[in-house]
Amino acid sequence: MTAMLSKDEIRQRVDALGPWFHNLDLNGVRTAPSHFLGDYPNVKWRRFSSVIPDSLEGKSVLDIGCNAGFYAMEMKRRGAERVLGLDTDDEYLEQAKFAAGVKGLKIEFRKLSAYDVGQLGERFDLVIFMGVLYHLRYPLLALDLIHEHVARDLLLFQSMQRGDSRVDRLETNYDFWTTGQFDSPGYPKLHFIEHRYADDPTNWWAPNRACVEAMLRSAGFVIAAHPEDEVYLCRKGARPRLEELGSPLRSRAR
Ligand SMILES: C[S@@+](CC[C@H](N)C(=O)[O-])C[C@H]1O[C@@H](n2cnc3c(N)ncnc32)[C@H](O)[C@@H]1O
Repeated sequence: MTAMLSKDEIRQRVDALGPWFHNLDLNGVRTAPSHFLGDYPNVKWRRFSSVIPDSLEGKSVLDIGCNAGFYAMEMKRRGAERVLGLDTDDEYLEQAKFAAGVKGLKIEFRKLSAYDVGQLGERFDLVIFMGVLYHLRYPLLALDLIHEHVARDLLLFQSMQRGDSRVDRLETNYDFWTTGQFDSPGYPKLHFIEHRYADDPTNWWAPNRACVEAMLRSAGFVIAAHPEDEVYLCRKGARPRLEELGSPLRSRAR
């Protein structure tokens, strides 16, 4: 039905469903033409799209924090057989459903949190987790759950990064009295946002680059490509430290 709408009708629906974070082109109607990051996320996607296989024929894709569905729709355009987009925000999900309808793309969108992916009971060839980590109060929990329950092979990941972009080579252990590493600019650091950053009450963390890479590794993802400052393509791997501790969510204090 939505595929048959006139440009004026699309414009009316776009206005009613706004404001939009994704600037989509819906048959000539732009959803967020004044986005503070420009033509977003298209400008970002152009910088890393080459690391995603041109054909996703027969593949399944899970887009966690899909917003208005930009990445979900790009994956469907590459031929993915099944694309599921998740978000916790009803308004973004309505935008995504409308946009996919206008584009005639068969994509499922569901209200579900990154913390609840275990409920899906399904693994996906490609999991997209872009721009969500720093919005989560428990970011490593989400990465662990993705590894445990839904990732089969590839993870496309992005996080806002703040602080120094150097990356130290880490030792596998440090003596209790060795403390200098913590002051090194390239040591993994996750800056906690107690109040607000960029006026957004959902920004909880601002990792530096070393921290993003260490968190991905720690959650069992092997970095295969780093095509853009904030973006990583990972393959699912092992989680040696968590396996040593037993259950992924258990700690063993001394
Ligand atoms: C900065 S936007 C990123 C959107 C898109 N992934 C991208 O990269 O352009 C963050 C999105 O994550 C969603 N989100 C926030 N917390 C979430 C959670 N716990 N589970 C799933 N999605 C969440 C927000 O509603 C929002 O759509």
